Amino acid sequence: MERKLLVTLSVILFSSVAADDYVRPEPRQALQFPWKQKSTSQPEQVHISLAGDKHMRVSWVTNDKSSPSFVEYGTSPGKYSFLGQGESTSYSYIFYRSGKIHHAVIGPLEPDTVYYYRCGGGGPEFHLKTPPAQFPITFAVAGDLGQTGWTKSTLDHIDQCRYEVHLLPGDLSYADYMQHKWDTFGELVQPLASVRPWMVTQGNHEKENIPYLVDEFVSYNSRWKMPYAESGSNSNLYYSFEVAGVHVIMLGSYTDYDRYSDQYNWLKGDLSKVDRERTPWLIALFHVPWYNSNDAHQNEGDGMMAEMEPLLYASGVDIVFTGHVHAYERTKRVNNGKSDPCGPVHITIGDGGNREGLARKYKDPSPEWSVFREASFGHGELQMVNSTHAHWTWHRNDDDEPTKSDEVWLTSLVNSGCWTEKKWNENLRKILMEP
Ligand SMILES: [Fe+2]
Repeated sequence: MERKLLVTLSVILFSSVAADDYVRPEPRQALQFPWKQKSTSQPEQVHISLAGDKHMRVSWVTNDKSSPSFVEYGTSPGKYSFLGQGESTSYSYIFYRSGKIHHAVIGPLEPDTVYYYRCGGGGPEFHLKTPPAQFPITFAVAGDLGQTGWTKSTLDHIDQCRYEVHLLPGDLSYADYMQHKWDTFGELVQPLASVRPWMVTQGNHEKENIPYLVDEFVSYNSRWKMPYAESGSNSNLYYSFEVAGVHVIMLGSYTDYDRYSDQYNWLKGDLSKVDRERTPWLIALFHVPWYNSNDAHQNEGDGMMAEMEPLLYASGVDIVFTGHVHAYERTKRVNNGKSDPCGPVHITIGDGGNREGLARKYKDPSPEWSVFREASFGHGELQMVNSTHAHWTWHRNDDDEPTKSDEVWLTSLVNSGCWTEKKWNENLRKILMEP
């Protein structure tokens, strides 16, 4: 009753000072995680990721250093016909000692199939569903998650949606040097991330370096191993994967990106291998937005944009997802700072719910390329319906109910008539041949 009264009062107050009819809730408190006694070999923080054609990587943590790194799995509960052998790692961070972090690859797996699995020969049974081999496929998208009441709300909403793969454009745990918060984050996301693959790239909150003591991304790289080796990359900070007709490129905003860098050269090589017959849709994710009309983090992406935008444009990238700005924004198709029917749509979706709260101030007037912008927490769903059409929806966390607040149908560039195939190949060859 009290809460209702408060909400009503704030609606009246807000209505009197702003034209916007939506009242944005306040940031929520960090979640409290009660200490739980577990046996030391009990798998914790289980999450899965795609690991090359028809394979998945299962990652988990145990406190028992002698616990083995294998996964048993099969298509019926309790019957594990297959075994995936793995590897393990651990790290130290000042006084913190991580548990044993296991990564085991399983497969080949059938598409669109439920598998039951168990980690390290004991503990509870988990299940996962593999993505389909072809369209349609749905991605859930939310970045800058953290671990607050709003994070929980976002995760609950994603859990209600039918999706096959989660895409996360950076800033996961907001542990920010407090390493045990990586453990609580792992536990928080396990109910979702053990069931559907989570494909992540890094943000500034993953860096956690301490000069002369701790290197960058130590915790992130140890815990969230992505298929970089499977995609010909030599760094966990950038990689690609293919799923059901979609080629997804995950880039690093916080690793070298100039044209002489390893990342740039890997990207050129990766793009040259994209077959638009096999994967008509091309998507890229990284953390710092290039097109952003929020006051927060203005121009931070300019350096990377200057180096890499021509490459993404020439390759016909359809959609770019970014985070960092704690709000939502969708652009028209853009290139070189203005709208362009042959460039990608950029979507900033750093609105997962972290403790830093929302970025509420926007540039006025809105740039011509900005279609929709709103400072609210939420998540997105991208359904690739077929090789030509995709449906994007953004769902605001509206007083705990997911409210569809933005949607658009997108048509793939490869079928748009932007370029003839010959012209496209010429463009791409020219840029790929650059020294
Ligand atoms: Fe960030």
